[in-house]
Amino acid sequence: MNSPIIQSESEQAKAIQARLREANQTHLLAHWHQLDDQQRELLLEDINRINLAGLSGLIKSHVMADRPFTLPRDIRPVVCYPARPGIDQVGLYADAVKRGVSLIRRNKVAALTVAGGQGTRLGFDGPKGAFPISPVKSKPLFQLFAEFIRGTNRRYGADLHWYIMTSPQNHADTVAFFEANHFFGLRPQRVRFFRQGIMPAFSMDGKILLDQKHRIAFSPDGHGGSLLALRRSGMLAEMAEAGIEHLSYFQVDNPLVKAIDPLFIGLHDMTGSEMSSKTIPKVDDLERVGNFVIGDGKAMVIEYSDLPDELAHARDANGNRLFDAGSIAIHLLSRRFVERLTADEAHFGLPWHRAVKKVPYVDERGRRIEPEKPNAVKLESFIFDAIPLAGKPLILQTIREEEFSPVKNVTGVDSAESSRRDLNRRAARWLESAGHAVPWREGEPDGLFEISPLLALDADHLREQMSTPPRITPGGAHYWE
Ligand code: UD1
Repeated sequence: MNSPIIQSESEQAKAIQARLREANQTHLLAHWHQLDDQQRELLLEDINRINLAGLSGLIKSHVMADRPFTLPRDIRPVVCYPARPGIDQVGLYADAVKRGVSLIRRNKVAALTVAGGQGTRLGFDGPKGAFPISPVKSKPLFQLFAEFIRGTNRRYGADLHWYIMTSPQNHADTVAFFEANHFFGLRPQRVRFFRQGIMPAFSMDGKILLDQKHRIAFSPDGHGGSLLALRRSGMLAEMAEAGIEHLSYFQVDNPLVKAIDPLFIGLHDMTGSEMSSKTIPKVDDLERVGNFVIGDGKAMVIEYSDLPDELAHARDANGNRLFDAGSIAIHLLSRRFVERLTADEAHFGLPWHRAVKKVPYVDERGRRIEPEKPNAVKLESFIFDAIPLAGKPLILQTIREEEFSPVKNVTGVDSAESSRRDLNRRAARWLESAGHAVPWREGEPDGLFEISPLLALDADHLREQMSTPPRITPGGAHYWE
């Protein structure tokens, strides 16, 4: 092949050229002669970030071949722990809450937020966690999670760690956002940022794309990358040293999440589960959430895009949806499980998922092309693919209105609008369940209602915290902390 020649360059550049030739990627140096020294250095750095050794095989199996998700042969519904315990589970749930609280008190649990996504659908300029969402104070997502952790610390006398996964693209902005806001009242030492891994984007014929003549088109390697990133960043070792046993994992896009949930933690710990997950009944057959199933005997998630329509529409003998366990991307992972999965990087077990996307690139003539149609393959790994690898995975059902309303789009379903509305409704319901009258109008609370997690973490907690009736004006904006 007629490859660009690096003449009289550093030994390092020559060695890289040889490795690129082997991996069939020498086009990355096509513009070498037009680059200044600094740009050359950046390009070499980018190339060094790629694991060229394993690349050819990966390209053949995942980029060139459109290997659709292979469905398990035998797919059955999962059995979940119910949101409310049955009569014979009341004792178990009470014990689980006690166990969860005890683990929290001893700082054996840490929060883990994945915030490395690009938030393209929301069109927000900045880290998604900086998006203002609460109905009265317009607090950003990160602040609500920070206050949940502070509220938990306060309620149980704890001092929990919070791990936040960023991407190389949003790391500096995320850290700066926390600094500018004084870590929302948390001790800065307890808030730990770590960067996730990256993968290059590929053309449909298996060539790594250049974003600029001297920069590779990288994107985050999926939230499954959080596991390796925890090890590579040294956070996993730090957790072991701090005695942290379980990680409470959630996505940055869900302001209703119970970032730390004693019942969930207790059940996970008492049953010896290595990875536990929360589920909710789906709103409709084709809701865009992952589906918990038992596939060939193992608990797993099949993403909505991979679940065949006939299964999505299937009904049981009573006419109920057969596959009704939606994933809300809330998990607990035991630290030892993460250690085991990441012990040998070369054999890290999470599969790559292939997505065809629009990725701007520099062509061989040096022109930057903004494609109109999807032109590139991106590879990502997903955290839920760890479930089938876990011992005794547990799935706990929960209540959508209490815990799930993600911010993914600007308007419509799963949007900033719907999420803000659901926060408002939840606050109104909590007030009512604490015995305080709330005015409603046309099915919505009449006014804006916001309860900081600093005051209450759930409805029962609010009942304890707010015994005197609050002043409520129909149509007014109300905030308590
Ligand atoms: C995701 C789940 C879906 C679940 C739904 C619940 C996947 C593939 N699907 O869908 O099963 O029902 O959430 O809301 O995850 N992220 C990173 N780094 C990355 C990619 C993503 O940190 O490289 C983070 C994002 O910041 C975000 C989260 O992961 O917090 C979700 O990613 P996204 O791609 O938006 O997943 P969804 O399609 O919304």
